[in-house]
Amino acid sequence: MQSVWNSPNPILFGRGSAKAVGDKLREFGCKKVLVVYDEGVASIADTVIGYIESADIGVVRFAEVQADPPDWLVEKAGALGASKKVDGVVGVGGGSSLDAAKAAKLLITNPPPIKQYYGREGVVMKPSVPLIVMPTTAGTGSEATPGGVITDTERGIKTNIAGIGCAVTLGIVDPELTVGMPASITAITGMDALSHCLESYTSARKNDLSAVVGREGIRLVAKYLVRAVEDGSDMEAREGMMFASVLGGMAMSGALCHLSHDIGRSLGAKFQVPHGIGCAVCMPQVLETVAELRTDELRYIAECFGAELPADADAKAVGQAVYKAVQTLIKRIKLPTMRDMGLTLDDILSKVPDEVVMQCEMAAKAGFVTSPVPVTKVLITNILTKAYNEN
Ligand SMILES: [Fe+2]
Repeated sequence: MQSVWNSPNPILFGRGSAKAVGDKLREFGCKKVLVVYDEGVASIADTVIGYIESADIGVVRFAEVQADPPDWLVEKAGALGASKKVDGVVGVGGGSSLDAAKAAKLLITNPPPIKQYYGREGVVMKPSVPLIVMPTTAGTGSEATPGGVITDTERGIKTNIAGIGCAVTLGIVDPELTVGMPASITAITGMDALSHCLESYTSARKNDLSAVVGREGIRLVAKYLVRAVEDGSDMEAREGMMFASVLGGMAMSGALCHLSHDIGRSLGAKFQVPHGIGCAVCMPQVLETVAELRTDELRYIAECFGAELPADADAKAVGQAVYKAVQTLIKRIKLPTMRDMGLTLDDILSKVPDEVVMQCEMAAKAGFVTSPVPVTKVLITNILTKAYNEN
């Protein structure tokens, strides 16, 4: 069977690797760079900027990144970089900052608006300046993916950019940058990493690479997420989660994610539910839904989380085991539920199932079918209802 594998970005991984950012920018020939981040990571950005300036490289700051970066915001960052004639970009932060940095890079050599670069196929863009991305969370995997997610404010949806104009030149992945991350953010972003790993492992587009990489990412999350949440100074756990996040980005680059992310994106677009929460709130139910078609994969996932299954366990038993394992994890790390976020089931069902079906139909038309089971309004309604009542 043929499958699509996207090669990962170059990555410099390990404790203390952030200190190399100045030398790496010099290697790339940069003299003045745009540093893209948000105020929430200002102290980490200051440290990174110190490393850059100590290599005699000028810095232009863009500290205005918002969650799910909107089109107008990345255009503002790109315009700043172009007007200051920077010859490099550095993104510091969570997925939103890294994706905004990718878009800013794109717009330094390609004219706005950003909307003309949405999509994957047939989009023409020029190469741009070097880009280094430095994650401060362990979840998005953006350092390992070929594109970024931008909010299209005209259509009220999240969409993608990908291609040579926004490519990562180097990801510098330093687990020490995640040490100060609060437990709640560690939990939310960690569930995003898990979602990337297990959805690419069970996707309709799953392939040999996503299986190998995704399996290891799942094992690492099972081993380290609770530890990282409960003791943020546990460097072994921080490093394990950071590696899982990179693996998640690699695994999903070709195989893509499916129902948990489809639902998570819609909850984000309609109710501003943070990405990692949106992707996790229905995860037990999504996995149970695909148990018949992905029994072996789900058995592996359940066993990573400590489930003991008899050798002859059928799909139903495996589905129930993985359901319980993930539900237990969600409760243990105190992830907010849809109810905790003040959402009513009626409000959710009035918007999310239609949105998910529409998005999946659009993706299918573009050749991207990712769910192992057909996506219908009834299916999504049932998943959401069960998740709302049982998680
Ligand atoms: Fe995600």
